[in-house]
Amino acid sequence: MKYIFGNWKAYLDYDQSNILAHQLLDIQIPEGVAVVVFPTTLAVPEIEKTLQDTEVHVGAQNVHWAPSGAYTGASAAALFAQIGCAYALVGHSERRHIFGETDDAVRKKVEACIESNIAPIVCVGETKDERISGKAEYRVKKQLMKAFDGLELADDQQIFVAYEPVWAISKGGVGEVCLPEDAGEMLSLIKAELAKYSDRDIPLIYGGSVKPENMASYLALDLVSGVLPGHASTSAQSLSKMVNLIVS
Ligand code: 13P
Repeated sequence: MKYIFGNWKAYLDYDQSNILAHQLLDIQIPEGVAVVVFPTTLAVPEIEKTLQDTEVHVGAQNVHWAPSGAYTGASAAALFAQIGCAYALVGHSERRHIFGETDDAVRKKVEACIESNIAPIVCVGETKDERISGKAEYRVKKQLMKAFDGLELADDQQIFVAYEPVWAISKGGVGEVCLPEDAGEMLSLIKAELAKYSDRDIPLIYGGSVKPENMASYLALDLVSGVLPGHASTSAQSLSKMVNLIVS
């Protein structure tokens, strides 16, 4: 199975998100390909309804760990599960770096997803400074250890790890490129690290300035089961281009 996870971030407003969802009603998903879009939270329930009879799944960009309680502004993993979401991004670098999400919070969110039958896509990656100062591997290993050490996974629990080098994530579509060979090196390390915590073959995803023009170069890496485009997933044209390219 190959995956396209489209993280719409906060690029689109409510109406734009719904228009894009309606454009996706026509998209043909080839066999062996799974497509999940992650709209802005307020649009998720409506888009979940719009796409419920299609092959396009809808997921959460972020979840809160506690199912209920005194947590102003939080939307629980359980709440997303209740409206039909089966996937969630957890620990995205924008959550970690802009909103101060810690490794411990990421772990709680991963566990909350599992409790709610949601497949977490655990995002890891190093900053530019960490890469320059030779700390990239340390950072990624620590993120994985915190998320996976001692984690209990039922046989049918889906879980993914997305490697997103923070420095390669675009701002509005313009970003520094992580060469596929560099991504491949870190993905090998991730695979080896995950083997310490789980005997499961956890699918690995690459994200960071992925677009129709370069997607194939990442998918050509043996270790890559899918891609996590941000900006390039916010137009029906480029998203469907990627869906069509993924099998050819
Ligand atoms: P871009 O594809 O815009 O670089 O975003 C990547 C990303 O952060 C997806 O989660």
